[in-house]
Amino acid sequence: MANLVSEGLKRALEAERAIEPKSNLRASWEALLEDARVCRRCHLYKHATQTVFGEGPLDAKILFVGEQPGDAEDLAGRPFVGPAGQLFDSLLEKAGVDRSQTYVTNAVKHFKFVQRGKRRIHNKPDTGEITACRWWLEHERELIRPPVTVALGATAARSLIGKAVTIGKVRGAPVELADGSECWVTMHPSALLRMPEPERRRAERARFVEEMKRIWKRAADLAGLPTPPRAASPLRQDRPTPAG
Ligand code: URA
Repeated sequence: MANLVSEGLKRALEAERAIEPKSNLRASWEALLEDARVCRRCHLYKHATQTVFGEGPLDAKILFVGEQPGDAEDLAGRPFVGPAGQLFDSLLEKAGVDRSQTYVTNAVKHFKFVQRGKRRIHNKPDTGEITACRWWLEHERELIRPPVTVALGATAARSLIGKAVTIGKVRGAPVELADGSECWVTMHPSALLRMPEPERRRAERARFVEEMKRIWKRAADLAGLPTPPRAASPLRQDRPTPAG
């Protein structure tokens, strides 16, 4: 079924773009979301509450990719709404980046955890899980075609670039993706949240803010916009409601 959806979607999109660029993106995205909700591409669906798909306007110029939903996201059905998401929001705000004009998603769409008593402890996705879930991310990117994709952390970078990279080595300059667009790799907000040493934490958060300013401007430049986009766009979608 997966390949059929992939090929069918691809053909529909190409035909649609040939007639009227971006005319029916929303319907295609919703079809993708419906498929993702019943994803069985790996075993992670068995214990997670629901698929946590990406959200944001379909004409976003920046697409952020995290690792996987955490406990709060698994329950809410939305990416980056827990503690790391709240820090992410506040750092974006400091950088003057309007999250509602960006598309936010994850490399892996189901919460992977280890149960410890009543607590569900985050467990890093492995290569097989990242590879299985890459299919959804590729389709999200194919629909949105953002000039800039931001990998938040090593898992996202691995999924987007297709191999393991050291964040320190690739940070600060774009990596070209297969479709010719730019991928910027930076730290994951969870790492910025948990950094124990206050001075380093302050410095790293400030660095992240500066990076976001630069990336926001870069995305606007690549999209041919005179200033970073601020007004709500006609293709903006409502945030998806939790699966049900
Ligand atoms: N961490 C992530 O990588 N993604 C989320 O959605 C939440 C926390």
